[in-house]
Amino acid sequence: MGTLLLASTGVYLHTTLRGKLRIWKQELDRIGLKGDEHLLDLGCGRGAVLVEAARRVPAGRADGVDLWSRKDQSGNGPAVTLANAAAAGVADRVEVHTGDMTSLPFEDGTFDIVTSAMAIHNIPSREGRHRAVDEAVRVLRPGGQLLIADPWWIARQYADHLGQGTLRPLGAGYWYGGPWLGITLLHVVKEPRPEGTEPC
Ligand SMILES: C[S@@+](CC[C@H](N)C(=O)[O-])C[C@H]1O[C@@H](n2cnc3c(N)ncnc32)[C@H](O)[C@@H]1O
Repeated sequence: MGTLLLASTGVYLHTTLRGKLRIWKQELDRIGLKGDEHLLDLGCGRGAVLVEAARRVPAGRADGVDLWSRKDQSGNGPAVTLANAAAAGVADRVEVHTGDMTSLPFEDGTFDIVTSAMAIHNIPSREGRHRAVDEAVRVLRPGGQLLIADPWWIARQYADHLGQGTLRPLGAGYWYGGPWLGITLLHVVKEPRPEGTEPC
């Protein structure tokens, strides 16, 4: 039992200190960014994913939105995130907003890419989580891409709710202690507008 607990703690620490960042780097590289995209990270926290995304859009913008809950992430706060962006040399293209993922303060179709890492599952009700996923799709431009990493059974609920997207387990590097708390990526490409139609 002691060995299992020790191994589980080691896996957890590896995920939080290295694994999740390595995996997000791979996922951001995989989506083929040109470098001028406008990106939004939902529940950006201290900016682990936001900063990595910002590195890949030198001619674009990377916005983060968060309620800055210190229960969900220690040392959380907009000043910390901006300091992390500055330390990485990407402060010129990063902006943070205080807002709720279930009611985003952005117009429809604003972003080329929307990401969210281990954040939407923190919304306590299933209805609230589904509202956040709907908001993520709403603020994406047609043809834009949505990437959400959350515990596998919750990511599956998002895909069922949206009725679209592909699900892929992110592997042992993103296990919070073991495979029972593995993280799955939901990838959605928003339907392009039918030819000849304009937004209302
Ligand atoms: C576990 S942290 C993950 C932070 C970051 N994405 C990462 O991977 O390091 C979850 C984040 O979601 C934020 N959050 C939770 N509910 C939220 C909501 N309804 N609207 C905006 N942010 C929220 C928390 O404040 C916290 O920063």
